[in-house]
Amino acid sequence: MISKSTIDQVFETSRVEEVIGDFVQLKKSGSNFKGLSPFSDERSPSFMVSPVKQIWKDFSSGKGGNVVAFLMEHEHFTYPEAIKYLAKKYNIEVVETEQSNEEKEQANERESLYLVSEYASKYFQNILHKTDQGKAIGLSYFKERGFTEETIKKFNLGYSLDEWQAFTDDALKKGYQLEYLEKTGLTIVKEEKRFDRFKGRVMFPIQSMSGRVLGFGGRILTNDKKAAKYLNSPESDIYHKSKVLYGIYHAKQSIAKEDNCYLVEGYTDVIQLYQSGIKNVVSSSGTALTPEQIRLINRLTKNITVLFDGDAAGLRASLRGIDLILEQGMNVKVCTFPDGEDPDSFAKNNSLEEITVYLDEHAQDFIQFKASLLFEFSKNDPIKKAETVRDIVNSIAKIPDRIKKEIYIQECARIMDISEDVLFSTLAQIDKKEFQESNRQYKQDQKAFEVIKHKQPVKKVDIQYELERKIIQILLLYGSEMEEFEDLILKENDKNELVLEPVKHEAKVFEKIYLDLQDDEMQFSNERFRELYYTIIDTLNQKPDFAIENFINTVEPEIASEITTILMEDERYTLANWERKNIYPKEKHHSISQLVSETILSLRCYLIEQKVVEFKQETLESKNVVNKNILEEVKDYSSLKMLLSRKLNRVL
Ligand code: CTP
Ligand code: MN
Repeated sequence: MISKSTIDQVFETSRVEEVIGDFVQLKKSGSNFKGLSPFSDERSPSFMVSPVKQIWKDFSSGKGGNVVAFLMEHEHFTYPEAIKYLAKKYNIEVVETEQSNEEKEQANERESLYLVSEYASKYFQNILHKTDQGKAIGLSYFKERGFTEETIKKFNLGYSLDEWQAFTDDALKKGYQLEYLEKTGLTIVKEEKRFDRFKGRVMFPIQSMSGRVLGFGGRILTNDKKAAKYLNSPESDIYHKSKVLYGIYHAKQSIAKEDNCYLVEGYTDVIQLYQSGIKNVVSSSGTALTPEQIRLINRLTKNITVLFDGDAAGLRASLRGIDLILEQGMNVKVCTFPDGEDPDSFAKNNSLEEITVYLDEHAQDFIQFKASLLFEFSKNDPIKKAETVRDIVNSIAKIPDRIKKEIYIQECARIMDISEDVLFSTLAQIDKKEFQESNRQYKQDQKAFEVIKHKQPVKKVDIQYELERKIIQILLLYGSEMEEFEDLILKENDKNELVLEPVKHEAKVFEKIYLDLQDDEMQFSNERFRELYYTIIDTLNQKPDFAIENFINTVEPEIASEITTILMEDERYTLANWERKNIYPKEKHHSISQLVSETILSLRCYLIEQKVVEFKQETLESKNVVNKNILEEVKDYSSLKMLLSRKLNRVL
């Protein structure tokens, strides 16, 4: 178990905006930061981070919480994993209380897979740098490829001895369990025998966005035609090939900063470009880009530049994969290299200046590139040309932005020497087809929805719920603040009329709320809120220096999430408000004390109204037998309500 003092220190030191900033590109927005939700596909930001409250809220998925909740959601960390991650980021020593053997065994399986992978990475690096075979074979290979010592260390490159089970034996001796060695694919188990999967290969550890080792790529060094050049870790609980991008850990910051991501094919392309100074580069490791991978990039930038190897073979095939990137609303450029060159060799043989100039000059808009390529390929063949037109318009159809679409149609008409009308009508055909398909889907959804509709009538806005929630919000935000309140006291004037007279007094917000609600013997109807209410009042009573960010870290995750939702509700209005021109953000209240009075009074009025309704109902049910007591009470309540309404009007 991690000690309490370590956990406290981690919470004290961590800044939610810094931690999330490593995963999501955040832009300042008032006193908050906003960005694209890392939990859903979206094009306008609905993800908010509050540095003041030290919480985050994702309005598209409803998720939210403190810094640890983010890591648990996003990285799928367990609680201890998240604490350890933060401790590492902020250089805090993790003090563990002694673990029992049982606890050790229970230690999360995923964590074990991470630990084995991390160990393997260290082991392979050690072999590369410290053993004769490693130096003679592995290290000299990397040097020959032009990698510097610094680069080799930066990417944690390693070497796996050319022996059947050197690594496996070592790991077992160090206490790592065979089960996890097998699950990560580092060891192949065949009956009684064990083999090192990566025997005799140079090793490229694959790291997650946050730097954890997930798996490996191992390159063979001999010219054995039968063996695969690269061998990769198999899929495991921690390694999903389709969800990682090689190099993303080192590249993420410059991708955001340069607002562009270079996409290459291989491990060595990434490393060589990075070494040259082009740091915003990642690789999908030889496969077509998946939507998950695109999403990883989409969080950091809207712009992708795909770098193709010089050999034209397969170029047209790989173009198809790019439609997927367009579909996600990203801007795609492509860049090819001179014949026989790939990004690796080009970066190795040229200076940073030359590379930069080359990339700038040769990176071409994808659609234009595709149009000219296809034009060359089909210009003397009318049948091919017709095919080509469809192909290119298909790509254009994927672009979500309508204005962009039109501009591309015009461009392509020019490049392919064809009339705009033809292209527009082809686009219309494709759009229509897609519309029909999505419409069919829509109708199906509608049907399914109708079934649900009958079962669950739409809930009306629950006023009491809203008001109770508002009170919690006020307590969290301003609970410990001293405010001047104006209470209205009922007095009789000279003419024997009841009038309201203002009396000023100072109190802490939470005291005022507590006393007022107690006066009315009011109970929260929502169970969660009731519990939360007493917890907050209790905390405020004990700690004069109440701070939400500390409070939130001490409560149950479910409650923390509720609190986050309550606190961030207001921020929602600052999100993309240009999109909701017809909705005016709520006006800020003139003062805290006014807000408090107004809320409490509204709640009291509401409750009294409920009471009156209840009494009337009772009277009806007692079959017109006039119950004097009830009538009396209704009268009392009605006049109290009128009184309160008058107070409320004054406050408003
Ligand atoms: N790849 C793979 N398995 C293979 C071949 C390739 O997983 N048998 C993946 C690797 O991620 C590799 C990428 O596809 O980095 C690109 O392949 P290739 O161009 O053949 O490799 P390079 O990275 O250029 O490697 P090298 O320069 O070492 O030949
Ligand atoms: Mn290559």
